[in-house]
Amino acid sequence: MSHYITSQNGAPIADDQNSLTAGSRGPVLLQDWQLIEKLAHFNRERIPERVVHAKGTGAYGTFTLTRDLSEYTIADHFIGEGKVTETFVRFSTVGGEMGSADAERDPRGFAVRFYTKRGNHDVVGNNTPTFFLRDGIKFPDFIHTQMRNPQTNLKDPQAMWDFWSLNPEALHQVTVLMSDRGIPANYRQMHGYGSHTFSLWNAKGERFWVKFHFKSRQGVVNLTNEQADKLKGIDPDSSQRDLMVAIMDGNFPRWTVNVQIMPEADANTYHIDPFDLTKVWPHKDYPLIEIGVLELNRIPQNYFAEVEQAALAPSNLVPGVGASPDKMLQARLFAYADAQRYRIGANYNQLPVNCPHATVANHHQRGGAMAGTQCPYHGDNGHQSQTGGDASANYGPSTVTGALNDASHFAEPPLRLEGEAARYSLYGKDDYSQAGNLYRLFSEGEKNRLAETIASTLRQVTEEVQQRMLAHFDKADADYGQRIRAAL
Ligand code: HEM
Repeated sequence: MSHYITSQNGAPIADDQNSLTAGSRGPVLLQDWQLIEKLAHFNRERIPERVVHAKGTGAYGTFTLTRDLSEYTIADHFIGEGKVTETFVRFSTVGGEMGSADAERDPRGFAVRFYTKRGNHDVVGNNTPTFFLRDGIKFPDFIHTQMRNPQTNLKDPQAMWDFWSLNPEALHQVTVLMSDRGIPANYRQMHGYGSHTFSLWNAKGERFWVKFHFKSRQGVVNLTNEQADKLKGIDPDSSQRDLMVAIMDGNFPRWTVNVQIMPEADANTYHIDPFDLTKVWPHKDYPLIEIGVLELNRIPQNYFAEVEQAALAPSNLVPGVGASPDKMLQARLFAYADAQRYRIGANYNQLPVNCPHATVANHHQRGGAMAGTQCPYHGDNGHQSQTGGDASANYGPSTVTGALNDASHFAEPPLRLEGEAARYSLYGKDDYSQAGNLYRLFSEGEKNRLAETIASTLRQVTEEVQQRMLAHFDKADADYGQRIRAAL
């Protein structure tokens, strides 16, 4: 193999350090296409950062199934005790830009991809089992309040608390965020959750509602405000460094994977709306079932290609795993692939990190920017992705040799729906009890630190917003409200 530097067309470059000039002091010649190629590529080395979760890191690994789930699902990666499925995980903070510090008080993204034999299955969750909202139509407004003020370009506590005070369903997640659980020390020592309710369906056509939990085997460690403030100054990339160093040292992080499973019919009678993302399912009602181990053991070769261009999406589902009527999840089924077409380009799923690794993609989509990137993985049957049957046929149904057929044996069982189409508000549907339950779990010290942390930013907002928030804390637990009042 040659060790010469070459240009993009593979031609050896004789001098990569000096521009081509007219005389030793003369101007640069337009014919210096090597200089132009270098500068032009440099100008194009960025794509838009993710609109949320912009700062992150990723690694590959494995999911080993320790409990067969065929009574619940036909999903390949959940069948066959001992089966090993390749995975990719991207961790992130939420509100900061690509260069922001890791040790922020912020939820953490915990996005898992399973490269299964029937396509890529992504569980794009967080380190918390719930979220601030239960309807995706509010998500852009919420995120605007978490990011920079459009006029001053500064973070804006007034906007943040104004929004939360008008959306009491956020209180449960606000309590998690402001508590001792709010600043994970790194990405290894935190749990992950699919958060939403998804569905599993089995060979008999029975459906079950499911929640995914990833329990850190490294334990859970969080930082105090003081520790985090110091760390942000010393090493803004603390969580990224922690993960890279652990994997490079062979200290592979592991998570025990669990599910909670609810039979389909229970959803109609359970006292908690199972499709409300602001609520957990108490484990006493639906116990955790341990199903396997997630391990991360390989870092990407090219951060930009494999992490920046990773396109994880809740809509990446496979036969045996489906969505649920959760309104937040429904919005996300649209939002991610749409963002990725814009952020990366129409053929982002042809890139090596995004194409299927354990099977092949066969469809009729041949065109678009960058079409033709060959997925380096061939699945089990040794075929290449992208062209099924006759390479000239980009339509179906067709009579060409090897035409692509519907995989009708993988049809999801029908879901019974009822009711009238309307915009239903679920306000007043108990926004307080789980927030109060969580508060009551905390020790005296934790309650005081929670009140102090909340007061430190609530202090900066108008009296009117403070009063509205205090009324919510009171409703969750009288002592919760009282402690914040005292801290203010
Ligand atoms: C990233 C939208 C709620 C977790 C993103 C991205 C978008 C988005 C557009 C960037 C995707 C990309 O460019 O690749 C939304 C919308 C939501 C929502 C519209 C509500 C309707 C949530 C919730 C969670 C979550 C509830 C967790 C439970 C994540 C994670 C990422 C992400 C982990 C980063 C994925 C990665 O590592 O590449 N979200 N999001 N989001 N979101 Fe959401």
